[in-house]
Amino acid sequence: MNYKVYIELDKKALTHNLAEIRRKTTAPVWAVVKSNAYGHGLIDFSRLADKAGVDGFCVDSGFEGVKLRSDGVKKPILVLGPTFSHHLELATKNKLIITLTSHPALTELIRSKHKPEFHIKLDTGMNRQGFKPNELDQLIKKLIKSNLTPIGVYSHLADAKNLKSNFTLKQKKTFDESLEKLKQKFPSINSHLGSSITTLSKKGFNYDLVRVGTALYGVTPVEKYKANLKPVLSLYSVISDVKTLEKGEFVGYSLTYKAKAKTRIAIVPVGYWHGVNRDLSNKGRVYIQNKRIDIIGIISMDLLTINLKNIKAKRNTRVEIIGKNQSVWDLAKKLNTSPVEFLTRINPLIYKNVK
Ligand SMILES: Cc1ncc(COP(=O)(O)O)c(C=O)c1O
Repeated sequence: MNYKVYIELDKKALTHNLAEIRRKTTAPVWAVVKSNAYGHGLIDFSRLADKAGVDGFCVDSGFEGVKLRSDGVKKPILVLGPTFSHHLELATKNKLIITLTSHPALTELIRSKHKPEFHIKLDTGMNRQGFKPNELDQLIKKLIKSNLTPIGVYSHLADAKNLKSNFTLKQKKTFDESLEKLKQKFPSINSHLGSSITTLSKKGFNYDLVRVGTALYGVTPVEKYKANLKPVLSLYSVISDVKTLEKGEFVGYSLTYKAKAKTRIAIVPVGYWHGVNRDLSNKGRVYIQNKRIDIIGIISMDLLTINLKNIKAKRNTRVEIIGKNQSVWDLAKKLNTSPVEFLTRINPLIYKNVK
């Protein structure tokens, strides 16, 4: 590979994950590809997902939706984030389904001459986007008066990993009651509530489609969750230099690493700009030939340093950051964050090699 930092996308892993998801649900699977497809590359990943046979796409913004349409995606695209009045024309022209999240957004839609298809977002307890149950009657009245017909309604679970908890069950009940009300006036409305974890656990949260991100990328939504998934993304760099520190010499900014003895080190041209979080300084690891190697010193913008010890390596030796030895969960745990946050912080400009 002629790149000093590169991502590999494993299309067989994606096909496998989709098959695994389909084993758990008969509902159409809409791939959640927002935030640069969780770091996998909006276009690169969506092309693969389209070919693999997902039934639709969920993006965050009209901007992402237009990118998919320009790349030839014909399947439905739902914009999960808010769409402001100045983007209603763009949504209509590109056949993007927007999400209607509040009364002010509804007023914008009523006033606009552009009427894209839309799903209603219900706030069933997360207190993020969406209409509260007590806003529903007024919403239905206004929709009927303005001759607007929603084609879908959805909500999102705040604590999906606890599917049996009172909170989650209450969210589901609220959703079902609201859906019932909407169906009386809009009988063909589609509904959806499930994401990765609900789909994998087959607990009846699937409705007319499922919005799946994490599982499609081959990452378990909860650590050690038993699911037969394969990670789609690997992240690699290469060694650019090998050198030897004398006892007492320092590495990197702020002199945080001091060699206790003669030490063989290597420079790897990947840094926090690429997504290797600076908090991994002096505590993260990489792998060379399946052997664990410690990151030493502060991670720089585009470089980091590793303690080679006696591992054989030279300029151009491949360095694994995410791969079969180190999962994105391993990194996320070290950083006290979620694997999804780590993935979405991978720089979108990194070259992607589809295997
Ligand atoms: C509204 C909505 N639906 C679905 C998803 C996908 O969730 P997951 O990645 O757990 O499948 C997300 C992710 O953030 C979301 O915000």
